[in-house]
Amino acid sequence: MIAVGSDHGGLELKQAVIELLQNRGLECEDFGTNGSDSVDYPDFGAKVANAVSKGDVEKGVLICGTGIGMSIIANKFSGIRAALVHDEFTAQMSKEHNNANILVMGGRILSVEQGVRLVELWLDTKFEGGRHQNRLLKIAAAEQAE
Ligand code: RB5
Repeated sequence: MIAVGSDHGGLELKQAVIELLQNRGLECEDFGTNGSDSVDYPDFGAKVANAVSKGDVEKGVLICGTGIGMSIIANKFSGIRAALVHDEFTAQMSKEHNNANILVMGGRILSVEQGVRLVELWLDTKFEGGRHQNRLLKIAAAEQAE
């Protein structure tokens, strides 16, 4: 199950991402927003990040205007590795090296086609493990020590 959320700045791309996931036969849950009214991105980012953090869903996709606000709020939650990606390289690396469990994008930065492509790459890329796993363990330890 993949959780998807956005504010008004990411609405159009969110709808396209949901369509992509459905076309791939992947189950997804839409956490909103679902209108063009101006809303506060932390409300939607927190819902998605909380669902991933608690294990209710496997991963998530978050979109706001720049992706910055969504990545800040998502990374407040335990066990979340939210990666703000801008291009094919960062989308691929976010999984290969960082095993990002939430992909974050800027709906005012990417075209809908670009954004959908980045989600495809993130889904299709495998985590490399090895030395990267050690680094993720260090991130988890830092979170525990807080
Ligand atoms: C909303 O105008 C905008 O601030 C938001 O979408 C996002 O870019 C925040 O980081």
